[in-house]
Amino acid sequence: MDDTQLTRRALLGSAAAGAAGLALGGPLSRSALAARGDFRLGFESVARELSIGSLDVDGSVPGWLRGTLVRNGPGRYEVGDKSFEHWFDGLAMLHAFSFGRGRVGYANRFLRSSSYEAAERDGVIAFNEFATDPCRAIFNGTAAMFKLAPVPNANVNVARLGREFVAMTELPLPVKFDPETLRTVGAQGEALRLGNTGTAHPHRTRSGRSVTYEVELIPPSAYIVRSGGRELARIPVTKPAYMHSFSLTERFAVLTEQPFAVDPMKLVTDWEPYIRNFRWDGSAPTRMHVVDLERGGVRATLETDAFFTFHHVNAFDDGDRITVDLLAYDDATVIDALYLKKLRDLSVKRVPAATPRRLTLDLAKNRVTSRELWDGAVELPRVDYGAVNARPYRYVYGVGVRDRRKSSFFDQLVKLDVRSGEPRIWREDGCFPGEAVFVRAPAARREDDGVALSVVLDSRRRTSFLLVLDARTFTERARAVVPQPVPFGFHGELFR
Ligand code: CO
Repeated sequence: MDDTQLTRRALLGSAAAGAAGLALGGPLSRSALAARGDFRLGFESVARELSIGSLDVDGSVPGWLRGTLVRNGPGRYEVGDKSFEHWFDGLAMLHAFSFGRGRVGYANRFLRSSSYEAAERDGVIAFNEFATDPCRAIFNGTAAMFKLAPVPNANVNVARLGREFVAMTELPLPVKFDPETLRTVGAQGEALRLGNTGTAHPHRTRSGRSVTYEVELIPPSAYIVRSGGRELARIPVTKPAYMHSFSLTERFAVLTEQPFAVDPMKLVTDWEPYIRNFRWDGSAPTRMHVVDLERGGVRATLETDAFFTFHHVNAFDDGDRITVDLLAYDDATVIDALYLKKLRDLSVKRVPAATPRRLTLDLAKNRVTSRELWDGAVELPRVDYGAVNARPYRYVYGVGVRDRRKSSFFDQLVKLDVRSGEPRIWREDGCFPGEAVFVRAPAARREDDGVALSVVLDSRRRTSFLLVLDARTFTERARAVVPQPVPFGFHGELFR
């Protein structure tokens, strides 16, 4: 790394890498671990904030690849002598991979959320997260009340909203950051209201209008779909469901109301961490709400068998038929499986895996039919959003597992042809890849002309690398090695 400039902007004493409570459980032989690799490194905290002008690159990064891939995810799980409970709780860290003239730069920085500031200043968990409540001590030992952060721990996704770059979580209060320096600018918008949640997966229409939803958990509870500043639909509900994403067709927004729902009274009386108030009821249906993007209002609500989903993949409409592709789980047990204690316990053999499912909503017959697009696992799905979102499409890129019974975490990348059901796979022993962001090549002629960018944990070398795959062949073009592990994150975006 001759021309590498390595600056250590900060050293977090208490969160030194490796301090991440590896109280190991379970019998897994050393040889098995050596063969499969130890994915738990991806759940350790990162101490160093780096800024590196040029990473070591193996292979050749296409010269046309320009801009900055910003990724978001947890970077730290310990605060003082406490730990967050769940993968989704960790303190947000942004990672920037910048491209130009075949080079790759890297920087990482914690988002200066209220949670992060309290952790640094007072050494306490001060605000409610997805599955962790604030330290009781700061409420003088009384039951913890919901404590809303002025600047949320926005660790899920990033987006450009107009001229601003924001980090997002499932709250309707994005956090602005500077994509050049990763410096946190501050919350964008009004203070959070108790029980008002949103999505880290907003959409935009072909004409550039934003479409998003909010869930009002406190009565009168409702799902609210908005476009720009306008309320498109308000769907009343007595027990609101947990919802992570939705999809657009050219005419409709489609919301999935799954039977993993909360009694609003529990939220205000029980003081359980947020997600622990939700209950799965496999005997109840999943409801698909179809909202008219032009006229507003609910065009139809259709019922189908219970399933759980985090991620819609894509959707499109044709007359009275709507096709919705999403990643479906049998139930909501995946949320339990992603508690850090379980993830770090090697005797827990697998994380439930979602399969890509196609639902066909027949509005004329008020009926939903569904089929699997492939029988393998896919999560963190990406499509060529600018070209195919809300339209018929062919390819989805995601993470997967090579063996549903043995894989403990995502250990391969998948490109699935949703027309033929044919997958292409990238994998390497000891490696655990993250979300694969598709980037279209200039003058692309096919939907898969471009590259897929994934940050891969190399558990054997105890580093991570940015993997550049040729999206058509799904083979490696280049890798750029980061000199420390990048913890498992969620979503990212290439900004140009
Ligand atoms: Co997501």
